[in-house]
Amino acid sequence: MPAAEVTPEKSLEGKRVHVWETAAPPLPKRLEGKVAIVTGGGRGIGEATVQVFALHGAKVVVADVEDVDGESLAARLGPSVSFVHCDVREEADIERLVDRTVARHGRLDVFCSNAGVLGRQAPRSDLSIAALDAEEFDEVMRVNVRGAALGMKHAARAMVPRRAGCIISVASVAGVMGGMGPHAYAASKHAVVGLTTNAACELGKHGIRVNCVSPFGVATRMLVNAWREVEDEHVDPAGAPPTAEEVEKTEEMVRGLANLKGVTLTARDVAEAILYLASDESRYVSGHNLVVDGGVTTSRNLIGL
Ligand SMILES: NC(=O)c1ccc[n+]([C@@H]2O[C@H](COP(=O)([O-])OP(=O)(O)OC[C@H]3O[C@@H](n4cnc5c(N)ncnc54)[C@H](O)[C@@H]3O)[C@@H](O)[C@H]2O)c1
Repeated sequence: MPAAEVTPEKSLEGKRVHVWETAAPPLPKRLEGKVAIVTGGGRGIGEATVQVFALHGAKVVVADVEDVDGESLAARLGPSVSFVHCDVREEADIERLVDRTVARHGRLDVFCSNAGVLGRQAPRSDLSIAALDAEEFDEVMRVNVRGAALGMKHAARAMVPRRAGCIISVASVAGVMGGMGPHAYAASKHAVVGLTTNAACELGKHGIRVNCVSPFGVATRMLVNAWREVEDEHVDPAGAPPTAEEVEKTEEMVRGLANLKGVTLTARDVAEAILYLASDESRYVSGHNLVVDGGVTTSRNLIGL
């Protein structure tokens, strides 16, 4: 299947965006006729997922707290993509998101729970569990875990009567092994993996598949900002989008830590894994955590292989 090309970042109305050339659309379209929601779809891994879903024929609803990002993405991708403001910390927002999607498109096939936060990066000396900030912990859990759980709840509400659908959450390598992120974030991503297996256990009888993906480092705003904060604790977490130089520096750092050499993990790679779980090609895959990490979490080369 010819893959759409990813071009370098282009500037659109002053906003740095990834534009994917689609002169030769990938065939066959793997989500033709399907309706999908992507939370946190305005940028980063979510944005890439929205683009891949749209390329593959889905009608996509982008849900995000950042209206400018979500609206401009929907405007760029055309009528098959729309935006709904949604803060996943608020159950009423998620309920409205699902209801509006079903009202507009008549069904919900795919719910991708991608919205997430890393939490503020304390300077290295304060990363200790002994210095855990309880408010910060609650906030990370509220977005990453409660948001994902409520997404599952309302997606299931729409999917159970049709006895079909799939739910995919974006977890992390920090939900697979220790030492991959701050304590609150690691706890939240382990919880997302747990929620996935439990919901898969329950919803299988309704024909609904529930899976998650666990990426290694991708140089999105989240990761770039984390490194900014490590270097300068006063940096604004909602600060400016990463510059090309910052993206390159972050990718270089990730490549240095990676097991698989010669390739750089991108948001597109994660989106392709999500696409697989969303498509009928994975029709018997449920309760699975698809780790997209080039083998990092399965490798510890103690004997110099
Ligand atoms: N970038 C990485 O290295 C990496 C690695 C593993 C997992 N992840 C996970 O991937 C997902 C996407 O992260 P990203 O790297 O693209 O980050 P990002 O910060 O670039 O994008 C996150 C998106 O989620 C949205 N969001 C944040 N809080 C929200 C809320 N309360 N309600 C609705 N939307 C909200 C943001 O506005 C943004 O559009 C997250 O769940 C993250 O934990 C990222």
